[in-house]
Amino acid sequence: MTSLLSIQGLQVDIATPGGTLQAVKNLNLDVQRGETHCIVGESGCGKSITALAMIGLLPEKARITAGSILFEQQNLACLNEAGLSNLRGNRMAMIFQEPMTCLNPTLTIGTQLTEGFLRHGKGNRKAAYERAIMLLEKVGISAADKRFHQYPYSLSGGLRQRVMIAMALMCEPDLIIADEPTTALDVTVQAQILATLSELKSEMGLSLIVITHDLGVVARIADNVTVMYAGEAVETGTVSQVFGNPGHPYTVGLQKSVVGSADRDSQRLSVIPGRVPSLVGGLTGCRFRNRCPHAIPKCAEADIDMSELEADHTYRCLRNVSAGRPEMTGGVL
Ligand SMILES: Nc1ncnc2c1ncn2[C@@H]1O[C@H](COP(=O)(O)OP(=O)(O)OP(=O)(O)O)[C@@H](O)[C@H]1O
Ligand code: SF4
Ligand SMILES: [Mg+2]
Repeated sequence: MTSLLSIQGLQVDIATPGGTLQAVKNLNLDVQRGETHCIVGESGCGKSITALAMIGLLPEKARITAGSILFEQQNLACLNEAGLSNLRGNRMAMIFQEPMTCLNPTLTIGTQLTEGFLRHGKGNRKAAYERAIMLLEKVGISAADKRFHQYPYSLSGGLRQRVMIAMALMCEPDLIIADEPTTALDVTVQAQILATLSELKSEMGLSLIVITHDLGVVARIADNVTVMYAGEAVETGTVSQVFGNPGHPYTVGLQKSVVGSADRDSQRLSVIPGRVPSLVGGLTGCRFRNRCPHAIPKCAEADIDMSELEADHTYRCLRNVSAGRPEMTGGVL
C-alpha cells in the first residue's frame, strides 16, 4: 500500500553561531491514510523541526540537506514556496501548541476561518461561511454564528484551540499535523479536545500526526508511534509493540518515567537522568549513550542503524531489550 506520507532519510541542519546543528538525522517515517501517528520524545529531540519540514515552514536558518518527504508521491523537499503554500492549509494543515501565535488578534474568527478556503478557491463567501459554521459546531463550539464574528481574545484557550482545529479542517485536508495541541490546556479540556480530534479523524477519514510529550496521549489516540531522541528516530511500531515490547533503552526509560505516577506533571520525560546532548557538530555513535544504563564502548564507535525487532517494529540499538526484563540480556552482541 502506498503511504499518504513517506519520509525517507530526512536530514535537517540548522546554521547556528556555534556551528551546524543536526536537528533531524536520517529519519524514516510512514503514515497511511486514516492512521494516527504519534511522535514522542523529550524537549529538543527534533519533533517540531520534523513537523515544520513536512509542511515547509522551517525556520530561516534550517535546511533539508538530505532525504525526501513524499506526500502522495510528490517530494515536498523539492517544492518551491508556491507549491508548498498550495498544499498547506489545503491538503495538509498544522495545529500548533499555542493558538494565539497563529490567530491574528486584529481579525475576527470568521475572517480567519474562511481566508484559506477562499484563497484555495474552494467556494464563494456563502459556502465558506456555511462550512465554517458547520465545523465550529462539529468541534463543539456552541453559538457558532456569534463566535464567527468575535475576535480571538474573547475566547478561552480551549475554544481557541477548537477554532484552530476547525480552521485546519476548512479545506478538507488529508493530513493534519498537530504539534503539542493540548499542552497549554488544563487536563479536562485536553481530554475533550483530543476526543474531538479523534472523532473528526474517523468521521472525515483523515490522517493525523500528533507530536506530544505525554505517553498517556499516545496510548489514547495513536495507532503507530515513533520515539525520537536527539534528532533520530530510535524506535517505531504500533503502540502495543513499542510500549509492550520496547527494543530501545530510551523507550524503556520513558515508560519507567510514567509508571506509578499519579501526578500529571511528573509524567514528563525529564525523569530520565541526564540531558539530550548538544546537536551541534558531528555526533558519532549512539546519541543516547551518555544516559544509557547499558552502554558499552562499542556504542560510541559508529552510527547505529535501525534493526527489526518484529514485523513493522524497528529500534536503533546495538543491544536487545524487551519488556519484563529489567536488565539487558546481551541480545545481538
Ligand atoms: N530556530 C532555531 N534556531 C536554532 N536552533 C533551533 C531552532 N529551532 C529548533 N532548534 C534546535 O533544533 C533542535 C530540535 O528542536 P525542536 O524544536 O524540533 O525540538 P522538539 O523535540 O520539538 O522540542 P520541544 O518538545 O521542546 O518542543 C533543538 O536542538 C533546538 O534547539
Ligand atoms: S546502542 Fe548502546 S548506548 Fe545506545 S541505547 Fe543501545 S545499549 Fe544504550
Ligand atoms: Mg517542539
